[in-house]
Amino acid sequence: TPPLTVLGIETSCDETAAAVLRLDANGPTVLGEVVASQFDEHRDYGGVVPEIAARAHAEKCDDVVRETLKASGVSLSDVDGFAATTGPGLVGGVMVGMMTAKALSIATGKPFIGVNHLEGHALSPRLSETVDFPYLLLLVSGGHCQFLRVNGLNDYQRLGSTIDDAVGEAFDKSAKVLGLGFPGGPALERAAAEGDETAVKLPRPLLDRPGLDMSFAGLKTAVLRASEAEPLTRERVCDISASFQAAIRDVLVHKTRTAMQMVRRDLPSDAQPAFVIAGGVGANKTLRSALQGLCEEEGFAFAAPPLKWCTDNGAMIAYAGAMRLALGEQSGMDLAARPRWPL
Ligand code: KG4
Ligand code: ZN
Repeated sequence: TPPLTVLGIETSCDETAAAVLRLDANGPTVLGEVVASQFDEHRDYGGVVPEIAARAHAEKCDDVVRETLKASGVSLSDVDGFAATTGPGLVGGVMVGMMTAKALSIATGKPFIGVNHLEGHALSPRLSETVDFPYLLLLVSGGHCQFLRVNGLNDYQRLGSTIDDAVGEAFDKSAKVLGLGFPGGPALERAAAEGDETAVKLPRPLLDRPGLDMSFAGLKTAVLRASEAEPLTRERVCDISASFQAAIRDVLVHKTRTAMQMVRRDLPSDAQPAFVIAGGVGANKTLRSALQGLCEEEGFAFAAPPLKWCTDNGAMIAYAGAMRLALGEQSGMDLAARPRWPL
């Protein structure tokens, strides 16, 4: 296939992001990208407010696209297709990105490609390194926590997922209870670095249950109880943070080991499968290094996108769009936003 240049737009949560990516026989190359975060808009509320997010996307999207093209050194007429996240996510934001991509598609006569946000995360490790299909993916973000066997484009097998909160959601809600601000994940990780992970006894939900179901809502409640049990000094906040992060780590390591053994069973004995962690929580260094250690024990190659491609970004959407376009796929102008859209 000839090289393709695709502009990708991501607006499903609280970052307005775009990227221009070139896909050729050597794989993907990101030519330029811009991420405009909305932390300031949502900080006072301690979480993402959908209405505020939609308005901020509407205000920023055109500029983000313009700056992305400029940073890429690519003019609109050089773009072969326009990809945008179609869901899952906050529908107001999704519509902004989608309508921008559709408008650019109409104006230039080039295809529009709707992309599942989760597919973007699932393919994101291939942006920076060679990771062959099939691989085991742990997708841990603010809205999702699931194990996927990624067999190829359009071929994803969900092996298990959380039955209640996502891991990032548990990080954000616990951080809020502990007064650590927004976004909670990185703040809680910083506090945990100063704390003692054995200080507070927290549950490891569903650890003794076979299979890959996970649950994090109880952990968040336990953090609330611990925060009320004693005065919340800085030391106490750090101890609870460290204990919380350790509980998440233990659950994810245990469940990932189970997932690895499931994947291993279906592969030839000499296969060298890869394990990939992706999504915003994949930025957490404690989790990353624990899972890296697990890979060594279980004989999996470890892969993780660089931090900027763990959290929401336009590059992963451009890449998924380019792969679809390379197969001759495109979407109709009547494609609707899908707030819920399992992979
Ligand atoms: O993938 P992402 O940017 O957006 C979604 O698709 O949800 O993930 C955002 C989530 C938030 O819950 C945030 O608190 C969490 O990822 N996160 C972290 C860290 N950095 C971001 N959680 C734990 N440790 C981190 N360092
Ligand atoms: Zn995401």
